[in-house]
Amino acid sequence: MPIIYQQISALRTALQPYRGQRNDNQNSQQRIALVPTMGNLHDGHLELVSIAKQHADIVVVSIFVNPTQFGVGEDFDSYPRTLDEDVAKLATVGADYVFAPIIDEMYPVLPPPTAVLAGEITTQLCGRSRPGHFDGVGIVVSKLFNIVQPDVAVFGQKDYQQLAIIKQLVRDLSYSIEIIGAPIVRAADGLALSSRNQYLSVTERQIAPALHQELQYLAKQLLNIEHSQQEFAALLAETLARITDAGFTIDYLEVKTDQLDSVPNNAAIFNAENQDLVILVAAWLGRARLLDNQLVTFK
Ligand code: PAF
Repeated sequence: MPIIYQQISALRTALQPYRGQRNDNQNSQQRIALVPTMGNLHDGHLELVSIAKQHADIVVVSIFVNPTQFGVGEDFDSYPRTLDEDVAKLATVGADYVFAPIIDEMYPVLPPPTAVLAGEITTQLCGRSRPGHFDGVGIVVSKLFNIVQPDVAVFGQKDYQQLAIIKQLVRDLSYSIEIIGAPIVRAADGLALSSRNQYLSVTERQIAPALHQELQYLAKQLLNIEHSQQEFAALLAETLARITDAGFTIDYLEVKTDQLDSVPNNAAIFNAENQDLVILVAAWLGRARLLDNQLVTFK
């Protein structure tokens, strides 16, 4: 079973010997991996741990429902908290430590008067409908990086924008941490795994895989139309209509360069120079806000 810590100081003490070995003897390097989560773990999270184990000797999983990344009226209070079940699942994939702090341990002052992120990357896509969300993600991930001081950290590619922001954070704050993006884990019918899928009713759960199917369809069509910018716009409009007709309320459907540095849905990006595009969607189905994305590679 993984050992659970709630206090920063206790976790630091537990991890110190591995750092000692790392420092004293370069040949017996003990690499530490961090897998940050908000708990209520599913197979997607367990896959992150398995990937972390391939890159490190010791795997720390944090479980913390981070209040600063939830907006007013969002599901912070109702977000499922299932620590015992989570720890049992983590034992099956060989996680070594669980860091499950209470709010006061992470935030002596709430809201924290410190921000670490800036720039357009945090206000576009999910940041537009969830203002402040990525500020909360930025601060908690920075704190976790400072507490655990991992060599490597693993995040899911389902949260494509979050992953891009964390890579930016690591680059701009000079963290010496390798960031690994793990492929999306899907149910057999294609729905991307997410803790929020449990908000779906039985009927909504049957509709939900349509989101992935529509992204796949759009990606295939984009590859077929050989950079015709007119057809690009028409295809986007068609996909938007199909997703809406399936029963979703779309927050956004955007095609961008894979670095997220382009104007959304601007047909000008659809040219032979941009080999790597990404289609990103966020859509509501009942109470669940579903995210998905699909890379389109023109090589
Ligand atoms: O992706 C998540 O579960 C959260 O945003 C993270 C990275 C654990 C920060 O709270």
